[in-house]
Order: sequence, then structure tokens, then C-alpha cells
Amino acid sequence: MFYVLFNCKMPAILVTGGAGYVGSHTVMAMLEKSDFEYEIVVVDNLSNAYRAKGEKKPVALLRIEEMTGKTIQFYEVDIRDKQGLSNVFGKHDVQCVIHFAALKAVGESVEKPLEYCQANITGTCTLFEVMRDHSVYNLIYSSSCTVYGEPEKLPLDENHPTGRGISSPYGRTKYFCEEIMKDLCASDPKWKIISLRYFNPVGAHPSGRIGEDPNGIPNNLMPFIAQVAVGRLPELKVFGTDYPTIDGTGVRDYIHVVDLADGHVKALQLFHRNGFSGFCPINLGTGTGYSVYQVISAFEKASNRPIPFVPSPRRAGDLAANWAEPAAASQLLAWNATRSLAQMCGDVWRWQSGNPNGYRE
Ligand code: NAD
Ligand code: UD1
Repeated sequence: MFYVLFNCKMPAILVTGGAGYVGSHTVMAMLEKSDFEYEIVVVDNLSNAYRAKGEKKPVALLRIEEMTGKTIQFYEVDIRDKQGLSNVFGKHDVQCVIHFAALKAVGESVEKPLEYCQANITGTCTLFEVMRDHSVYNLIYSSSCTVYGEPEKLPLDENHPTGRGISSPYGRTKYFCEEIMKDLCASDPKWKIISLRYFNPVGAHPSGRIGEDPNGIPNNLMPFIAQVAVGRLPELKVFGTDYPTIDGTGVRDYIHVVDLADGHVKALQLFHRNGFSGFCPINLGTGTGYSVYQVISAFEKASNRPIPFVPSPRRAGDLAANWAEPAAASQLLAWNATRSLAQMCGDVWRWQSGNPNGYRE
């Protein structure tokens, strides 16, 4: 009302890739907060998000609007389109950018490294240019634990070296973007960049109305298991049963996507802290690792269905184990992951069983 009466723009948060999996949950987490005072502006090229025929917005965003009663500004724009991005910045009073937009399929990145450089590196640099042109210097970046490469020791903390032994072109795009962001911060102290290094995001919003909707056959464990449970896929291949882990299968730090989304909301507050500037990497993980067999068993309990699986050879590029040291997030953001593996599986099952074809009817 205030903004209408005085004919000024409401402060906005621009979310690139906000129609995707982590982005949509973060948009939901922001809008669910009753005292949230920003307009949400989503920019997405819909390369990995679904919009029904005749609709103006992707299904995930329409469902969020329905659940929260709030409006999301949506623009179908590619982050490599400098003019298109600049137009969006011109229309809104952007205070901060949360940058999710990227290509993320590890196997595909081996086949198409140039496309991954274009989307993830050139696109990110174009976004930074437009931010600078519009004097917007606050950024939250979606990074990944993949930047640590082969762990030298566990748990992984933010001081662990990055860039060595990263097993895919996708992973290297995340590392290169972090290096570019360090250079940007060194060039101008106005930049405030928080690079959130996600461990393994899984789960769905407890409403069962938004969740992960992978294109084609999933590469990652949890969506694959969910599709086996719902009968879309016959069985799971367990990649490697001879790792030096608790039961021979790979161990990962799975984090509920709603916890992850809350981490972004907490990170927004860091921009207001006196003296905060520069490049700040922060792990978002639980600090606990679970094996593939433990995840299968938790999912069977949550869904009350058997998950047929076959022990199979290791997948190229896979690590035996990794998990986070999450102390920095706790200290800097006052954030801790709170949701259990049982909740992650229960929420995936609610989403998958209620939406067997994802967002498509
Ligand atoms: P996602 O594919 O569900 O979401 C990405 C969104 O960005 C999609 O809606 C897609 O349409 C959009 N997009 C892609 N390229 C674009 C471009 N050039 N211009 C505009 N929009 C574009 O992926 P996600 O799982 O939500 O991942 C979000 C971010 O988190 C990515 O940067 C990813 O690398 C990072 N990340 C994800 C994981 C994970 O396991 N999901 C783990 C670590 C880091
Ligand atoms: C994968 C990517 C990583 C990316 C991360 C995003 C590879 C090699 N690595 O990591 O770069 O940052 O996703 O979350 O793709 N598993 C099976 N059967 C399956 C699928 C997975 O046994 O069908 C096992 C894997 O061997 C691994 C565990 O499940 O031990 C988790 O796999 P996944 O969900 O793909 O995540 P990451 O391997 O951690």
C-alpha cells in the first residue's frame, strides 16, 4: 500500500532459476514468512521447469502463489540475455540476487562441456555485469560440495582446498564461478557474496505440492528410488558395494530441501550485518552421512513399499563418502538442518505419489 501511495517501487529479491527445484522451495520459504517484506522476481528460461500450455507462469510458481496467497513476478529470460536481464533490473528495485540458474546434469556436462561453460560461467558473468550496471552488489550463489573434489579429510569444512580432482565439467563450472566471485570481491569492496555449498539436496515441501521434477530418467539417488517406489522404474542399481564405508555403499550428506531453502532466507540477513563484505563460502549440510542401503531402507519404511535393487559396479567419478562440517552455517547464519532422513523420504514419497508425473498432468 505504502509503495502504491507514494508511487515508489517495493524492494525486490531477484531469483534466477526460481522455477527449478531448489529455487522454488526457496521462493516458498521466503513467501511463507509472514514478515517478509520483499517482492519476489523470478527469472528463468524454463529449460528445466514446466509451464502448462496457455499459462503465463510455470506450475511450481502458480502452486506457490496458491498456497501463500502472494504474487510472484515472473520473467521468461535467459541469464545470458544481457538486455533481457537489464530490462528486469530496470523494472524492479532489486536489493539482492539469489542465483540458482544453471545446468546441473553431471553426465551431460561431460558430453557438452561448452554448453555448460556458456550457461553456468558466461551466464553468471553476464548476470554480474548487469548487477554492477544497476549497482546491485548483494549475491547468494548456489555452489556445491563438488568444489572440494576428492576429500582429503572428513568432515569437509570451508577451509578444505577447492578445485583439485573435481570429476566433472559441471563441478568445474561451480569452482570457476567461485574463483571469479573472489576476483570480483577483491576488485571492489561493495560486493557481498555468499556462496552456499550444498551437500545433497533431497525431499520436497511437506504440502506435497512442490518437489523435484527431473527430466527423463533421474541420475540422482533419491528421485530414482522415488520412481522405483511409484512403479515408473523397475529397480535401482546400487553403484558400488565395495567402498570402505559402513556397508560398502556410497555415503552422502543428504539435506532436506526445506532446510536448504531456510538457509538461503537466513543468509539474506547476513547482508545487513555491520562489516560484512567480500566472498563468504558456507556449507549447507547436516554433518551426518548415510549410505545407499540406509537410504533404501528409510524409503521403504516411509513409503511402505519394497525397493527392488541390484548391486552394480561403481559409477565413474563417484566418491566413497562425503559429509559436511556445518559449524560455519551455525555460527554465521544461526542455521542448522533440523529434518531427519525419515522426513526427507516421507516428503519425497508424498510428492512423488501425489504427482507421479511431476508437474505434468
Ligand atoms: P533445477 O534445474 O531444478 O533449477 C535450475 C533452474 O534454472 C531451472 O528452472 C532452469 O529452467 C533454470 N535455468 C537453467 N539455465 C538457465 C539460464 N541460462 N537462464 C535462465 N534460467 C536457467 O536445479 P536445482 O536442483 O534447483 O539447482 C539449483 C542450483 O543449485 C544450480 O545452480 C545447481 O548447480 C545448484 N546445486 C544443485 C544441487 C542439487 O543436487 N540439486 C546440488 C548442488 C548445487
Ligand atoms: C552427484 C554428482 C555431483 C553433484 C550431486 C548433486 C555424479 C558423479 N556426481 O553426486 O557432482 O554435485 O550429484 O547432488 O553424478 N547411487 C546409486 N544408484 C543410482 C544413483 C546414485 O547407487 O541410481 C549412489 C551413488 O553412487 C552415490 C549415492 O547414491 O553413492 C548418491 O548419488 P547421487 O544422488 O547421484 O549424488 P552424488 O553422487 O553425491
